[in-house]
Amino acid sequence: MSKYAVLGNPVSHSKSPLIHSLFAQQTNEEMSYRAIPLEENEFEGFVRNFFAEGGGGLNVTVPFKGNAFSLAASCSPRAELAQAVNTLFLDDEGNICGDNTDGVGLVTDLKLNNKVVINGKKVLILGAGGAVRGVMAALVYEQAAAITIVNRTVSKAELLVEEMQSMAPVEAMSYEMLQEAASNGRSYDLIINGTSSSLQGEMPKLDATLIAPGCCCYDLMYSATDTPFVKWGKTEGANVSIDGLGMLVEQAAEAFALWRGVRPNTAAVMAHLREQP
Ligand code: ATR
Repeated sequence: MSKYAVLGNPVSHSKSPLIHSLFAQQTNEEMSYRAIPLEENEFEGFVRNFFAEGGGGLNVTVPFKGNAFSLAASCSPRAELAQAVNTLFLDDEGNICGDNTDGVGLVTDLKLNNKVVINGKKVLILGAGGAVRGVMAALVYEQAAAITIVNRTVSKAELLVEEMQSMAPVEAMSYEMLQEAASNGRSYDLIINGTSSSLQGEMPKLDATLIAPGCCCYDLMYSATDTPFVKWGKTEGANVSIDGLGMLVEQAAEAFALWRGVRPNTAAVMAHLREQP
């Protein structure tokens, strides 16, 4: 039986083992999938050993996505852009390869599952850390009319903008600048929360007028109950306000397809997870 696992710290809360076992059942693939917590100094040795012993593939989550990027002998262009890897596999020559399926997971959940149009729309992204980096390439590819990245530490948003500006109309702002833009009538069709503030039960303070008619609010984090950002979107009149559970399932499906060559049906798995959070 082929072995798979997700590596992270902490990782015991991860829904990935459940998601991949549901995918495996559905597609009749014989595989096992475990969540394995590691210390930073164990990461590289574990990965090399895992593949040397015939392991099929690995997912990598916080805080190891950067380590996985450094370790991989080659990476997909989207992982290069993110400088982060969430999926590892071996190529035909036995080299460890890295990909990042987070961005495509987000875009699939937005476009296919929630019928949200990105092309030609105004997009606001909150945060400029690892989660945002992971989805930028896929978002840029969708050709939004304009992308604003706002971050508490503006220099991090500016750095991302510098890296992306040849590919898309992107700009960096502080929350103060965003507040001022809102008071001058600026609004957005899609607002993505890529900050980790939900973990503290908070969200950045935002003017409700930033929500344009028909706007989608999307939290990259997910939670059994509405995150503060999802609540805000619902209360302030967003057309759709959702968390990142769909993205989680879609990025997993993309990894599963990379490893097994078959794409599972995600709707059934998402319904299962919503029923049993
Ligand atoms: P992740 O991998 O989850 O993205 P990260 O790389 O540490 O984690 O990034 C966390 C992001 O959330 C950052 O953009 C951070 O802003 P700073 O770069 O200014 O630190 C943002 N963040 C975390 N808590 C926040 C809060 N309470 N309000 C606003 N932004 C917050």
